[in-house]
Amino acid sequence: MNKTTLLTAKDLSKTFSNESVQQHVLKNLNLNIYKGDFTVVMGNSGSGKSTLLYALSGMDRPSLGKITYFVDDTSSAGEKRSDNSGAIEISKFSNDKLALFRRDHAGFVFQQNYLNDSMSALDNVMLSGLLKTKNRKELAVRAKELLEKVEIGKNDWKKFPNQLSGGQQQRVAVVRGVINKPEVLFADEPTGALNSQNTENVLDIMTALNKEGQSIVMVTHTIKAAERGNRIIYLADGIISAEIDLGPYAGDYKDETNPQLDRAKERHRMLKDFLQEMGW
Ligand SMILES: Nc1ncnc2c1ncn2[C@@H]1O[C@H](COP(=O)(O)OP(=O)(O)O)[C@@H](O)[C@H]1O
Ligand SMILES: [Mg+2]
Repeated sequence: MNKTTLLTAKDLSKTFSNESVQQHVLKNLNLNIYKGDFTVVMGNSGSGKSTLLYALSGMDRPSLGKITYFVDDTSSAGEKRSDNSGAIEISKFSNDKLALFRRDHAGFVFQQNYLNDSMSALDNVMLSGLLKTKNRKELAVRAKELLEKVEIGKNDWKKFPNQLSGGQQQRVAVVRGVINKPEVLFADEPTGALNSQNTENVLDIMTALNKEGQSIVMVTHTIKAAERGNRIIYLADGIISAEIDLGPYAGDYKDETNPQLDRAKERHRMLKDFLQEMGW
């Protein structure tokens, strides 16, 4: 199957300079991310996974190298087509242009939910949406639909984050991340602060979104979360040192009633072998 490139990182480098020391975290890294993929980034703690995610998403700027997006809609403010291909090189964008770019094309979920404590669940989602659209009515419909989909029902819409469980809060954060229909949802250890039941719930939601076509790039250090991806890339020594294609998620490999049990078990084995080879 031919994949369509969503974004390309070319010779990406990121160096942090502290007083006398220079730390080269990303070193001439090259990477393509494809539309519709659930790409998972793994690697040792401190290997630069978050740094890579922030560079790819325009949250931070690389020291050197280019990041080019191929998006269908280049009409939003602050963007200019560099040619007819819809290619947008974000690496040189000013902070303002980057902020607009992120608003229009990228969604985010982090380990902490970063919800605004003084706003209801619904308003947290609406606030993000209103940055992009002025159609409050349409937005409210979409926000409520999405909240329902992640099982945050009517009774909880008006609740403040501290009146919701940690798992519910993170589900609201995922909804906020996709409210603007981003081309790509970036997730940095989105289940890192959740218990195992809530982890499953949030992963199920990400899997469902991906099935509907949402491109996802997720950093994780657990096999459980990584298994949701169809493509696992491994970061070591500042580059993508290896990757594996697992094919689409086939369900729980431990669930004897899973109709795709054999496939699920095979994926699990492939991933474990891959990580073992990486010395993970
Ligand atoms: N803003 C920063 N300033 C200085 N050093 C940083 C900064 N962000 C990350 N680093 C360093 O870069 C390395 C990679 O960090 P990070 O991308 O957070 O790794 P990971 O997410 O894989 O655990 C770490 O050694 C970290 O200390
Ligand atoms: Mg990190």
